[in-house]
Amino acid sequence: MKTLAFVLLLITVTKCHEPFQVIFQWNSIDVTWPSEEEQQFAIDHGDYVAANNFIAGIKFWKDKMYLTLPRWKDGVPVTLGVTSATPVNKVTAPKLEAFPSWEMQKIGDCSAFQFVQSMEIDPKGRMWVLDSGKMSPLSVEVKTTCPPRLVILDLENKNEILRVYEFPAQVARHGTAHLNDIVLDHEDGGMAYITDSDRDDPGIIVYSLSNNTSWKVRHDSMRAKPEAVRFMVAKTPINMPIPVDGIALSPASSTDRQVYYSPLSSFHLYSIPTSVLKSNTSNVDEHVKELGRKISQTDGMMMSAKGVLYFGLLADDAVAMWDTKQTASFATGQRVISRDHERMQWPDTFAYDADGNFYCVTNSLQNILIDRVNISTPNYRVVRARTGVKSYQYLEDGTAPEQPEIPTSVANRISLAVAVGLTILLAFVVQ
Ligand SMILES: *[C@@H]1O[C@H](CO)[C@@H](O)[C@H](O)[C@H]1NC(C)=O
Ligand SMILES: *[C@@H]1O[C@H](CO)[C@@H](O)[C@H](O)[C@H]1NC(C)=O
Ligand SMILES: *[C@@H]1O[C@H](CO)[C@@H](O)[C@H](O)[C@H]1NC(C)=O
Ligand SMILES: *[C@@H]1O[C@H](CO)[C@@H](O)[C@H](O)[C@H]1NC(C)=O
Repeated sequence: MKTLAFVLLLITVTKCHEPFQVIFQWNSIDVTWPSEEEQQFAIDHGDYVAANNFIAGIKFWKDKMYLTLPRWKDGVPVTLGVTSATPVNKVTAPKLEAFPSWEMQKIGDCSAFQFVQSMEIDPKGRMWVLDSGKMSPLSVEVKTTCPPRLVILDLENKNEILRVYEFPAQVARHGTAHLNDIVLDHEDGGMAYITDSDRDDPGIIVYSLSNNTSWKVRHDSMRAKPEAVRFMVAKTPINMPIPVDGIALSPASSTDRQVYYSPLSSFHLYSIPTSVLKSNTSNVDEHVKELGRKISQTDGMMMSAKGVLYFGLLADDAVAMWDTKQTASFATGQRVISRDHERMQWPDTFAYDADGNFYCVTNSLQNILIDRVNISTPNYRVVRARTGVKSYQYLEDGTAPEQPEIPTSVANRISLAVAVGLTILLAFVVQ
């Protein structure tokens, strides 16, 4: 009898997910300024408003943690930042460094980053950054606008810019596009699937790296649903229609890969095969699968190398999972793994590191939306749980499938040739 009880306990424990632990926690987010004068100037002129700086996107590469600070409001000097992946000297609220530089944060300069909410890093250390181009959608006047762009930087080679792609207006509308989240697919020369939460024209944008082209897939399942527009987070009412938002991709090892998505204003999870997204067909209706109902709205989601889908439940201050390999049905397979009404307010986005740790950013976004951030209390957290696996971009054994090359653009090669030519000439003249 005793033995049986012991065995049962073991089974329940192994089935349970490791609890999340708080690794970083900020009352407000600040950055390392180039100088004290510049910091003072920014504070005096409203270019830095502490309560308006919040973290959303998170990704890891080697010993660094990259975070996005979307410019939903004024006073956000840095929209893409970096810090150590683990606390240094036990500092759990580090200041962020502008990434890749202060020049790249310049507001109004369309070759710099304007509004970065998400990015993804591929297994070769190339960071794919989404820039919606528009500024401050929640401020009184919308300060526009640069074209929505995808920018790829090489973290393994001095953050060199490998690709800049401006989305054509018929794919992402200039001024209203909201490039929300991104997943990467190494097949067919490299693909990115991007949710565009544009209120009037929501959809999933497909980008082909090898052909340097893009298109948008639209479907009713990607629109906000009236039944899910209003909800409560930590006693704060939210009333805002938000279309397709979170996106996840089934693991690299799977055949017939699927993209999972959900509008924020929806109780439903959907999937569509990548083969359909890649084919640029105008009517995808017969390929969209409604997988079942969730108990709450979801922002970000992510899948592991073993096909476990993680997603937040906003009204429940919780994170849930669905092991797609264990239970084919989402309706019966989903379950809450973590709920904490204080520390898990608005689970926004997820990430893995190379050591099998799984992370979530919780940012109490409800307070930002209603302008009630109290910077005397903790608002933003990075929480972590050990899973022992890597992200969907890797195979189950932890290795990565072969990744597409990204040749530096023709223009770069020409300028390199010119530089080499000049150097030779100069060497000749000096002699
Ligand atoms: C890709 O397309 C963009 C269009 O925005 C263009 O500026 C860029 O030069 C193209 N890159 C390559 C490598 O063809
Ligand atoms: C790239 O272009 C070629 C030639 O038009 C086409 O056959 C191929 O399917 C395209 N690849 C993608 C991923 O769209
Ligand atoms: C995708 O399909 C649309 C509509 O049929 C078409 O206008 C567009 O040129 C296609 N894009 C690419 C890159 O093939
Ligand atoms: C902000 O938080 C502090 C510390 O918890 C608390 O004393 C204060 O009353 C809060 N302010 C508001 C406006 O809620």
